[in-house]
Amino acid sequence: MSEKGAVVYADDSVLSASQALAERLAWPLLALPDLSAESPQACFLCYRDGCLKLLDKQTLKKGGLIVEIDPRPGEQHSYPAPKKDLLAQAIGKKTKSLIDATTGWAQDSLALFRMGYEVQCIERSPVMAELIKDGFQRLAQKDWMKNRQLQTPTLMVGNAIELLGGLSEAPDCIYLDPMFPPKRKQTAATRKSMAILRDILGDDLDRADLFAAAWRATGKRVVVKSPDYAEPLGGKPSESYQGKLLRYDVYLK
Ligand SMILES: C[S@@+](CC[C@H](N)C(=O)[O-])C[C@H]1O[C@@H](n2cnc3c(N)ncnc32)[C@H](O)[C@@H]1O
Repeated sequence: MSEKGAVVYADDSVLSASQALAERLAWPLLALPDLSAESPQACFLCYRDGCLKLLDKQTLKKGGLIVEIDPRPGEQHSYPAPKKDLLAQAIGKKTKSLIDATTGWAQDSLALFRMGYEVQCIERSPVMAELIKDGFQRLAQKDWMKNRQLQTPTLMVGNAIELLGGLSEAPDCIYLDPMFPPKRKQTAATRKSMAILRDILGDDLDRADLFAAAWRATGKRVVVKSPDYAEPLGGKPSESYQGKLLRYDVYLK
């Protein structure tokens, strides 16, 4: 992945932040006007419109993907939001602390955080980790966070298979949403972020080892989000919550 990307900057106001980002990722730093369709990189990171964006060649000039920090469509804006959707049922109403070991775009982490769970995040892709940190910095600036003196979820960067082995305290729940190979063509615009993630990161082929590490490290339960066509990751689950195209498998200790 490290050869696939570059950091681009549009003007000098974001030059020093862009330089620091390029150094952290060991990616080249390029000026936006110098980029051409022949540039060898497939993806780009760029500070634009007050946030860090992941871009491809189509979205270089406009658009791009960010860690969205606002409630998803249909989600209540109150804090804590009600624990009523399938994800909350799988995580459990009595669960307090949870680790999202596959944070990605942080949409599940943030939905759970808004429901009032104590959320710790793990992400192994340094690029995704930069996007998540940027999202959490924007989250910290929200009035509802400041008024309640809430801290954003914490982020550990590295492979969860190793990091879960070194926890000082077992969380009530470990949540896993690794990348599975797609069965159907993904067309919905909302899935574009996942398609791009798959392009740059590939499938998570070590997901069975991740489940084993989560099972060892959890206090009470492991929850796995799977496409509906995939075999349960940890064998027969204790409970399953079936959605339209996905399933949450719950493994109780
Ligand atoms: C399908 S995405 C998760 C999407 C996320 N649930 C959301 O709501 O945006 C999977 C993510 O998990 C990360 N991941 C997979 N296996 C991991 C591991 N062993 N350790 C840390 N991160 C991992 C991948 O890098 C990827 O960013």
